[in-house]
Amino acid sequence: MCGIVGYAGYRDCTEVLMEGLSRLEYRGYDSAGIAVFEDDTIRVAKSKGRLADLTEKMQEEGRPEGHAGIGHTRWATHGEPSDRNSHPHGGGCVTIVHNGIIENYKKLKEFLLSKGRAFESDTDTEVVAQLLDYYYLNSPGNPVDAIIRTMKELEGSYALGVVFADFPDMVFALRKESPLIVGVGEGENFIASDVTAILRYTKNYYLLEQGEIAVLTAKKATIYDTHYQKIQKELKTADWDISAAEKCGYAHFMLKEIHEQPTAVKTTITPRITDGMPDLTECGITPETLLKFRQIHIVACGTAMHAGIVGRYVIEKLAHVPVNVDIASEFRYREPLVGEGDLVIIISQSGETADSLAAMRLAKELGAKTLAIVNAKGSSIAREADMLIYTHAGPEIAVASTKAYMVQIAVMYLFAFELALANGSISEAECRRLTALLQEVPEQIEHILAHKEMTQLIASELITADSLLYIGRGLDYALSMEGSLKLKELSYIHSESYAAGELKHGTISLITENMPVIAVATQTKLLEKTISNIKEVKARGAKVIVVCKESYGLEQDVADLRFSVPDFEDILMPMLAVVPLQLIAYYTAVHKGTDVDKPRNLAKSVTVE
Ligand code: F6R
Repeated sequence: MCGIVGYAGYRDCTEVLMEGLSRLEYRGYDSAGIAVFEDDTIRVAKSKGRLADLTEKMQEEGRPEGHAGIGHTRWATHGEPSDRNSHPHGGGCVTIVHNGIIENYKKLKEFLLSKGRAFESDTDTEVVAQLLDYYYLNSPGNPVDAIIRTMKELEGSYALGVVFADFPDMVFALRKESPLIVGVGEGENFIASDVTAILRYTKNYYLLEQGEIAVLTAKKATIYDTHYQKIQKELKTADWDISAAEKCGYAHFMLKEIHEQPTAVKTTITPRITDGMPDLTECGITPETLLKFRQIHIVACGTAMHAGIVGRYVIEKLAHVPVNVDIASEFRYREPLVGEGDLVIIISQSGETADSLAAMRLAKELGAKTLAIVNAKGSSIAREADMLIYTHAGPEIAVASTKAYMVQIAVMYLFAFELALANGSISEAECRRLTALLQEVPEQIEHILAHKEMTQLIASELITADSLLYIGRGLDYALSMEGSLKLKELSYIHSESYAAGELKHGTISLITENMPVIAVATQTKLLEKTISNIKEVKARGAKVIVVCKESYGLEQDVADLRFSVPDFEDILMPMLAVVPLQLIAYYTAVHKGTDVDKPRNLAKSVTVE
């Protein structure tokens, strides 16, 4: 949450910061601001609202002109979104931008108040700015020393971009928990919350580790540890190019990302298939390692957790190994029964989700082995896990996850096939057959995308609804959870997902003609049961939309509207049927005119609890 950028170089700094922030706005968009050196004074421009509001403000009031500075796009934690609470925040000669939460800010604020300091905002960030200035005044001329002393006092998570008025055209940065990279160009250097913010200028970057401090000038980027010792770091090169972070003619990033799913699946699974069989050895997973685990826990948040639920069905069905799925924020505080002999799988697109990261650390402490399934390269979860499978979805910019979910479940399948083969639950021939089918999935998704018109019609029927139910059984239930989340986060229409068989234990009382029901029915063995449940809601007046296989001959009165997905192997149907659910949510939001890529109150990469 919150995006930060910093620049020291020869270009127009305001332009570089605004360009970088436009790539990071998905991380938070309550307010935005920049601080730029104009010779040796720091000029700040900030505004409540989107980057567009800041641009407008700068058009009216003038824009800072210079070659070094810092910028921020905010997702409010302490203090309402307002001009006053927008970053950058100042304290004496220090100006900073911050991503994270300072947990002991109240105590620090009391200390600073006792020293006669006054505060202008409600944020925890301003406390850090004041503390930095306080220590800097104690040892003037030594900003890194002030940073090290401040770091010792801070509890919580932070990535900070800092400028000191006494050090024109220099940018300082530090991090603990919240991510930060240092971009390295020719005659220019950068800091950013993620690499997409600097791709236009350079692909080379250092990953700043916990407790490291970066000092940037136009000529060089130097990294120090907390003992003020210089550190040599490995220069990394991003394998994404700028088009991966652009809309490329699509109306929204989300629509582009939905259409990127076939490629994302291919890129993710192809390197993990050898001679037609799953092969995860490159990720540290061999049949021998897999046989050691007596139990699996999958821990994640939101959409990634929904991918875990698909994983549970598939692993239990094919490999007969018990799987628990947990919401990371619950897992970490409920004293889970996890220990040696257990495998804990953490699924995360960003690899920075605070609760998922904490859950993984807890699992390690308890003696379990951890496997991370992560999209963002070099992220904290990726670095700390015992075993790692990268999904190769490329950058996901839309706040609502689509292609990342798709590749997370693709990996769940590969994992389940390999485990089932290793423990003898499926034969080699069956494993080969399933793997070949998985390789056909991208083509099937292409087919669905080429015939997506019906999802627009369905969406137009939903926009007047106040509330919706998604129902399904088995894997269809797992999928309906994801469909429901997508719809509510994008269109702000309330929706719930229910196991179809559970409806009559209470929830059916909500059904009226004003409560549409979306039923997912792709599991042939459960079809008759699901149809009975559909009839029950239809009999009570609900309009029913059915997402089902092409070949299912539903009686005329079962569905008011129907989206048919190609006939395919039941167990792989989630990868197909999720596509119309994503599109229904997308078009409903478009029809309602909500901000599809940046829904209200949300942010991508939830780096706070
Ligand atoms: C919903 C969505 C979120 C994320 C969740 C976990 O569309 O994107 O529910 O799935 O915040 O994020 P990651 O995968 O980055 O850990």
